[in-house]
Amino acid sequence: MTIHLECADELLTTTRAVRKRLDLTRPVPREVILDCIRISQQAPTGSNSQGWRWVVVADPAKKQALADLYRSVSADYFTQASERARTAGEAQTSRVFDSAMYLAEHMQDMPLLVIPCLMGRPAEGGGVAASAGFFASIYPAVWNFNLALRARGLGAALTTLHLVREKDAAAILGIPDDVTQVALLPVGYTIGDTFSPARRPPPETITAFDQWQLS
Ligand SMILES: Cc1cc2nc3c(=O)[nH]c(=O)nc-3n(C[C@H](O)[C@H](O)[C@H](O)COP(=O)(O)O)c2cc1C
Repeated sequence: MTIHLECADELLTTTRAVRKRLDLTRPVPREVILDCIRISQQAPTGSNSQGWRWVVVADPAKKQALADLYRSVSADYFTQASERARTAGEAQTSRVFDSAMYLAEHMQDMPLLVIPCLMGRPAEGGGVAASAGFFASIYPAVWNFNLALRARGLGAALTTLHLVREKDAAAILGIPDDVTQVALLPVGYTIGDTFSPARRPPPETITAFDQWQLS
C-alpha cells in the first residue's frame, strides 16, 4: 500500500501530549486499546526481545491510588518548574506546566491509565549502552501506541513522574519485582481532533554533518 506522505506527516507532527482535551465522560473500549497495543508491537526491540507488557487501569479505586501517588511526587516539581518557566518568559514551557498541573489534579478522572512495562530491570552500572538498549526496547512501542491512539481519535500524555514511587505503584497493580514500569499514560478520546505542530528550532541548528559543530 502506498503511504500518503501528507497523512503520515500530519499524524507524526500533530501527535501531542493531550491533557486538558481528554474527554473524561467517554469510556474507551477495551478492543480499541488492544488494537493500539497490537500496532505498538511492530516497534523494534534490542535482540528482538519483545519484552513489552502493558497494564491498563480502569478500576476507579486503583486510578485514585495512582493519582494520589502521582500528585505526591509532582506537586512541588510542577509548581517550581512552572514558576521558573514563567520568570524566564518561556511561554511554550509555561503552557506545558499549566497543562501538566491540570493533569495531576484530574488524573483519577482519566478514562484509562496505561502503564507500559518491560520485562527485566535496567542493568546497574552498565553505562549508556545498557541503558539505551533497555529503555529503547520499549519507548518506540510506547510512541507507536500514541500514534495509533491519535489515528483513532484518542490521545494521551506520556508521563514518567510516578516512577519516583515505582514500587508503590507496583504494589497497587501487583506488578512483579523483575518487571520495570517505564511510564504512565492517561488515555481518552480527544475533544475535537484539530492539533497543530508545535514550534521547534530549525533542524539545521541541531544537526551536524560529518563533524560536530553544534552548540
Ligand atoms: C521522558 C518524558 C517524561 C515526561 N514526563 C511527564 C510527566 O511526568 N508529566 C507530564 O504531564 N508530562 C510529561 N511529559 C510530557 C512532556 O511534557 C511533553 O512531551 C512535552 O512538553 C512536549 O509537549 P507537546 O507534546 O505538546 O509538544 C514527559 C515527556 C517525556 C518524553
